[in-house]
Amino acid sequence: MSEQIKDYKARAQHLVSQMTLEEKALLMSGNGAWTTHKVERLGIPSIFMADGPHGLRKALGPNTADSVPATCFPTASALASSWNTELLAEIGAALAREAQANDVQLLLGPGNNMKRSPLGGRNFEYFSEDPFLAGHLAAAYIKGLQDQGVGSTLKHFAVNNQEHERMVSSSIVDERTLHEIYLPAFEIAVTQAQPWAIMCSYNKINGVYASENHLLLEDILRDAWGFQGYVVSDWGAVHDRVKGIMAGLNLEMPGSGDVNRKKIIEAVKAGQLPESRLDQVVAGLLAVVLKATESRRGGVRVDVDEHHALARRAAGESIILLKNEDDLLPLETGGKKKIAVIGAFAKDPRYQGAGSSQVNPTRISNAYAELAALLGGEERLSYASGYDLEGVTTAQLLEEARQQAKSADLAIVFAGLPDSHESEGFDRSTLDIPEGHNRLIDAVSQVQPNTVVVLMNGSAITMPWVGRVKAILEGWLTGQAGGGAIADILTGEVNPSAKLAETFPMRVEDSPTFTEFPGLNQQARYGEGVFIGYRYYDKKNITPLFPFGFGLSYTTFAYSELSFSAPSIQETESLTVELKVKNTGKVAGKEIVQLYVREDKPVVSRPDKELKAFTKVELAPGEEKTVRFTLSRRDFAYYNTNLHRWSVNPGRFDILVGGSSRNLPLRKHVQVEVAQQEVPSLSRHSLVKEFKDHPKGKEFYPQLVGVIMGGTTEEPGGVKRTPEEERARKKAEMSTLVFAHDMPVYKLVLFSEGRFSEQTLNDILARVQ
Ligand code: BGC
Repeated sequence: MSEQIKDYKARAQHLVSQMTLEEKALLMSGNGAWTTHKVERLGIPSIFMADGPHGLRKALGPNTADSVPATCFPTASALASSWNTELLAEIGAALAREAQANDVQLLLGPGNNMKRSPLGGRNFEYFSEDPFLAGHLAAAYIKGLQDQGVGSTLKHFAVNNQEHERMVSSSIVDERTLHEIYLPAFEIAVTQAQPWAIMCSYNKINGVYASENHLLLEDILRDAWGFQGYVVSDWGAVHDRVKGIMAGLNLEMPGSGDVNRKKIIEAVKAGQLPESRLDQVVAGLLAVVLKATESRRGGVRVDVDEHHALARRAAGESIILLKNEDDLLPLETGGKKKIAVIGAFAKDPRYQGAGSSQVNPTRISNAYAELAALLGGEERLSYASGYDLEGVTTAQLLEEARQQAKSADLAIVFAGLPDSHESEGFDRSTLDIPEGHNRLIDAVSQVQPNTVVVLMNGSAITMPWVGRVKAILEGWLTGQAGGGAIADILTGEVNPSAKLAETFPMRVEDSPTFTEFPGLNQQARYGEGVFIGYRYYDKKNITPLFPFGFGLSYTTFAYSELSFSAPSIQETESLTVELKVKNTGKVAGKEIVQLYVREDKPVVSRPDKELKAFTKVELAPGEEKTVRFTLSRRDFAYYNTNLHRWSVNPGRFDILVGGSSRNLPLRKHVQVEVAQQEVPSLSRHSLVKEFKDHPKGKEFYPQLVGVIMGGTTEEPGGVKRTPEEERARKKAEMSTLVFAHDMPVYKLVLFSEGRFSEQTLNDILARVQ
């Protein structure tokens, strides 16, 4: 199915021209929870949509857990830690096979919202705090899925970063922050992968519901980014259906019976909704319905074992080694050392989040059994549960754990977040894991110096015991095969190669949104602006627990020879960046190479640095590879709110390369020239100072300043003053100038009592356009 959605538009329009008003209105809402309506008279079929994102959830009944068995892959925060776009595409393709086998035409995913606060309830379902990383991972997933004839529904568009009051909350965000932080992940995914559908979010953006937001759904999504697919509401996100049609919302889900259908018909009849507009919106939906129907593949069989193996490989690429003192890991597989496995999660893992993404897995692996399998049996292992599944411990459970840990050579404690702590529908109230888990780790680490902690959680947590244990694995919610993958990493069968796609702060008080989150009175004020995630910790010089981009390996890597295609470029040219990375250790491994750009002297307050390129490189021991990146205009630009578009400020930019946002050993700068700098147009509301460096305005600047300074300037040497008088005079002149600079030019007319006339002002304004 190589045809683009736009190739179906003509057929869709032809069908619309044959439809009655009632039939058009019928198509605008779903038929129940998961399908669109058919129009049999015209041969228009219905299509089936199912959640996503990390496994197929084709519902069989009203309960979330009641769905067809499907492979549960690692959730998005885990997959993002792989930084591996090829892997994301493979997962997309596997999800498509499962969707095809179950006659599902569109999957509701991936979720691509920014992790504004580490407390966000759905952070486990989202990729990152960085829009560049999230955008590229989403694009790869979408391509993988759609290449197999199943559509993606990219969600939740947009600025949907909390669960608190999610159906009504208004995200109050400024224009620059919207464009630099909250839109680019969607923009990259749409422009690179063209998802068949996009799901608008529940919330309002600056007071306007996403489902009625013309700026987002038409001006940005369709006009600026060239989106070809349909927009579907999040389930129940429709407020005013007619307004939604005017704004570009094609499909309401789930269906609302004839409630909204009647309103659409009435609005057309009353002349409030032009039928031509309805036609456009119906045709937009139908084009995808036609494409999706023709993309159906009969006879697709899912190889459950193969998909489980892929889930294990994916989890292995997603688990992060955060600490490994004295090279405690990997465990010796051939040795005799006794290992105490502690914590109920070892046998009863937490491997996915709750809510609409909850998959009914084809099987579940647990780390205890998988470790035993890799170690050739349970002889070397002992076990203590340490806590119940809610994370509550008791003196007796702690004592048991202590005994096991003491009589072993090494202890592995499994800890993290129980189901009740993390789910769609609510935000977390704390970054802490249950007290029972913290107490267990303390108890074990007091008696066993060789303690490893394996974590199962979907988002950032605090680790008060970080200095008291030797090794930490961030095991995430790694899907149904996570147990096997944890065992692979613990034993060195797989060398860890994942890195954090989100910052872990030391304490919640350090996080960017601490004073604002989740808002009050149905308003979430995005007061931290562009400074979320590492952009915030960098700017405020706060040391996080573990920084963005950080993760260890059982081998080591060295970076060298950063070079550019040119020492300086025009903003319209691209820059090729090359460097070398070498495996300097004894085992094969993969390194995630990260490139950040820093503007030396920005005109607006910019993050200290921003991720603009990355790649994952596989290296044998001693092997060295050259990595090449290309940077272009957008990588240097900021969103200019005077011009309402991206601008490059000419000057020096530092290119920083390395293996973590806080460890960037390669640095070099490039000069970016701007042939013709874009300048805002001048109006009567422009400040006097804005004329100073304006190419056309500067000619008039002395005249404008003179209006105010008229009384205070004089010929040099005209009047004799003592040095003290001279200093006082200069001071007065200076403060008048400061005063004049920040004055809108129209005020000069008033201050000069008309000496500087309206006519003169209008003449000047006419000449500076
Ligand atoms: C969620 C979506 C999901 C939809 C259908 C909504 O509540 O926000 O992510 O796709 O339900 O289950």
